[in-house]
Amino acid sequence: MNKDQMVNGNQESGTFKTILVTGGAGFIGSNFVLHMVSKYPQYKIINLDSLTYAGNLDNLKSIEGNQSHVFVKGDICDAQFVNSLFDEYQPDAVVNFAAESHVDRSILDPQVFLRTNILGTQTLLDAAKNHWGSKPDAKYVQVSTDEVYGSLGETGYFEETTPLAPNSPYSASKASADMFVRAYHETFGLNTSITRCSNNYGPYHFPEKLIPLIISNALEDKEIPVYGDGMNIRDWLYVEDHCRAIDLVLHKGGAGEVYNVGGHNEKGNIDIVKLVLKELGKSEELIKYVKDRAGHDRRYAIDASKIKRELGWEPEVMFDEGILKTIKWYLDNKEWLENVKCGNYKDYYSKMYSEK
Ligand code: NAD
Ligand code: TYD
Repeated sequence: MNKDQMVNGNQESGTFKTILVTGGAGFIGSNFVLHMVSKYPQYKIINLDSLTYAGNLDNLKSIEGNQSHVFVKGDICDAQFVNSLFDEYQPDAVVNFAAESHVDRSILDPQVFLRTNILGTQTLLDAAKNHWGSKPDAKYVQVSTDEVYGSLGETGYFEETTPLAPNSPYSASKASADMFVRAYHETFGLNTSITRCSNNYGPYHFPEKLIPLIISNALEDKEIPVYGDGMNIRDWLYVEDHCRAIDLVLHKGGAGEVYNVGGHNEKGNIDIVKLVLKELGKSEELIKYVKDRAGHDRRYAIDASKIKRELGWEPEVMFDEGILKTIKWYLDNKEWLENVKCGNYKDYYSKMYSEK
């Protein structure tokens, strides 16, 4: 494939036959798989996930038996395996969600982040490069994060041109992966796009992350640990809005382009904690200020004007609505939460799927 052969790399109304989604049993990946299967029944979705602690096939129960979704258990770092998957299914697009995604875990054990997030990405890029010589319209989308830009002061926004300045082992590994994606576009002409999204929230969010942790602990009247002074700011986006953005980038994103995705919704952590406690009718006495996270980024805020201008994306679910939907989802799905907390969700795979 030659870069010049791509019409600006832009699949204006690109369509695909088979999409390899990696990490599709995790929080955002499973929401994306559900979105794609419902919106594009003509596509085949190959869902590759190694089912780490964060992968949960319960998230995909509603599409069980659906012929357009194939789940495959496997590791994105295993080059032989990934290449055999390309041989077998001939995907014409890849959307890479698979990652270690929790900052606190990256502080405790950085190496697994390096392996999955960097080596895994490079392995996927390599397989795509080796299989897509005759498919100039094939597309690789890397799902990255705003955390690669580091931390903002009280003002300003991350733009796509903001220099990368990651502060945690997690964000360093995601930034490195982004650099490999860039390099495979520049060097090999691979049709790649990168999305950099702010913090997501919504259904199927693993209860180690702030919002589901608050809900989960509050339901059990357990303390809610608030790091530092609780004044760190995140820009929250409802997960379905992120999925719609990735869908657009997959179909219309320019080759070699980066798109920031954000909710225009900056909130201090403590304000979120208080809001969720209030909605659940729980006391603020559950709040426990604890030692700050090492290297804790102070503020994230996204300038998402490029994706709005070029692809017409805007968030549809405002925070006031999204947080109520999310709380309701956890209240309506207590079994899902219990299964995650007691580890039962891990049995599902052995019951439903055979090892590849
Ligand atoms: P998650 O931790 O919920 O899910 C990650 C999934 O990847 C899991 O299903 C896990 O089993 C799978 N996985 C891990 N290692 C693997 C490997 N070696 N091979 C195959 N599968 C593997 O993460 P998430 O919150 O859904 O995030 C998905 C992606 O979006 C990540 O790349 C993350 O960096 C990015 N992102 C997340 C957020 C957020 O707020 N959660 C925001 C912006 C970007
Ligand atoms: P988190 O959900 O881990 O996402 P990220 O670190 O990727 O932004 O954390 C969101 C914010 O909430 C972050 O500033 C850290 C803070 N936090 C707490 O105060 N207490 C907690 O128990 C957790 C998990 C996070």
